[in-house]
Amino acid sequence: MNRLVFALAAVIGAGAAVATLTAASREDLVQHGRYVALIGGCNDCHTPGFAASGGQVPESQWLTGDELGWSGEWGTTYAPNLRLRFATMDLASFKQYAHSFKARPPMPYWAVNAMSDADLEALYAFVQALGPAGKEAPAALPPGVRPAGPVVQFPAPPQDPAAH
Ligand code: HEC
Repeated sequence: MNRLVFALAAVIGAGAAVATLTAASREDLVQHGRYVALIGGCNDCHTPGFAASGGQVPESQWLTGDELGWSGEWGTTYAPNLRLRFATMDLASFKQYAHSFKARPPMPYWAVNAMSDADLEALYAFVQALGPAGKEAPAALPPGVRPAGPVVQFPAPPQDPAAH
């Protein structure tokens, strides 16, 4: 009997150790993803008020998209809610998407395209850990359509003198 209890305790103990290890490495992954989001500057556009407040926005609101428009020759774009967007994708489709998507200015899609698989896995884990929150950002507007809310206006690019 004692031997059985001991054996059971050993099995349960080993299981708990594995679970703890997994939770710890999962937390490392999430923390690395937080680092990638912060250093990658994603909050500057995808989190309302982040750049204007010097980054003083609670993590619960990170990456929930913004109603600030970015207007230029491309029309007006809005940084989408990545908390909702990432929630629709599994890890494999997210990585495939992240390596190849294009977007209009001022989204630095080339920076995301160039991220290592390890960084993308961590970013995904971080955003999944935060969970879906907030609402969809406004839909982009084509050139010539006047946005209702505030925008950052980009001037037309300088003309190439060689073209004249
Ligand atoms: C300078 C502002 C800016 C920064 C910095 C920025 N984004 Fe964006 N992002 C945007 C805008 C604006 C769009 C929408 C572009 C469009 O509508 O074509 C966008 C679009 C995206 C999309 C496409 C979403 C979709 O619906 O398909 C993804 C994914 C994305 N950003 C991820 C990131 C990540 C990850 C980072 C940090 C590494 C980041 N962005 C940094 C402004 C920014």
